[in-house]
Amino acid sequence: MGRIAYVNGRFVPHGEAVVHIEDRGYQLADAVYEVWALFDGKLADPEGHFARLERSLGELRIAMPMTRAALTLVLKETVRRNRVREGLLYLQVSRGVAKRDHAFPNPPVRPAVVMTVSAVDRVASEARAARGVGVVTTPENRWGRCDIKTVGLLPNALAKQKAREAGAVEAWFVDELGFVTEGASSNAWIVDAEGRLRTRDTNANILRGVTRNSLLDVIRREGMEVDERPFTPAEAVAAKEAFITGAGTLVLPVIAVDGKPVGEGRAGPVAKKLRRLYIEQARATAI
Ligand code: PDD
Repeated sequence: MGRIAYVNGRFVPHGEAVVHIEDRGYQLADAVYEVWALFDGKLADPEGHFARLERSLGELRIAMPMTRAALTLVLKETVRRNRVREGLLYLQVSRGVAKRDHAFPNPPVRPAVVMTVSAVDRVASEARAARGVGVVTTPENRWGRCDIKTVGLLPNALAKQKAREAGAVEAWFVDELGFVTEGASSNAWIVDAEGRLRTRDTNANILRGVTRNSLLDVIRREGMEVDERPFTPAEAVAAKEAFITGAGTLVLPVIAVDGKPVGEGRAGPVAKKLRRLYIEQARATAI
């Protein structure tokens, strides 16, 4: 059976799923999205992703396309129809379809909704996590509202391509003061030279990662301390460990920054343990 997409109220074969050429998401990046990790066919960290979706839409004054309960049903039905147990669920909500004009359509139009599901090979992901990955750094060049999860991802796409061409998996944006803000599609962490967990605070211009937040719960439950303070790439290289978090990467050890090894240049024990604990919690609380 092939992949199925949800497009504006209909389930359609993935290859035939289309949106209108004047969808404002397509023309103006006037759209928000969410990505859920799927464990055993269930949505990980549901509350965090729904809350952020509502917040992103609210900040842009786009209406919730349906109630949270209805959205949950449709998301789960999309997963079911794809028969994916381990994977990713993508949801995009745009302001809708209207004649091209930068200002909002008046009267408002119906938001456009798209959902897709893709499978993830957990064996390959675990092998990658055991090895660890490299990141590269790149100057921060995004707009001032990275807390809103919009599809305006061109700087992120260019940064990710830079990483790929360097044989790395992620790019870390670095602000004008020399501190890492976040990754192109993940949040950034280190276990600093003193052995303390560190990740940038969310008052900064970064996405408030749902995985980051759930991992903070895990960390506190384990009685570990975390310092929500930014770090530089040099501090990451001098750190004992580094890792990234996100729905796509979960908790993924970082072993090199711009080709320089972090710590001993191997996936570290803290990152490995946090990955295991995060996945256990996410599996147990998925809906
Ligand atoms: N990206 N920072 C950015 C810029 C992101 O795009 C993401 C997620 C994160 C991590 O957020 P979360 O833990 O809520 O997934 C941080 C998704 C996975 C993506 O674009 O595919």
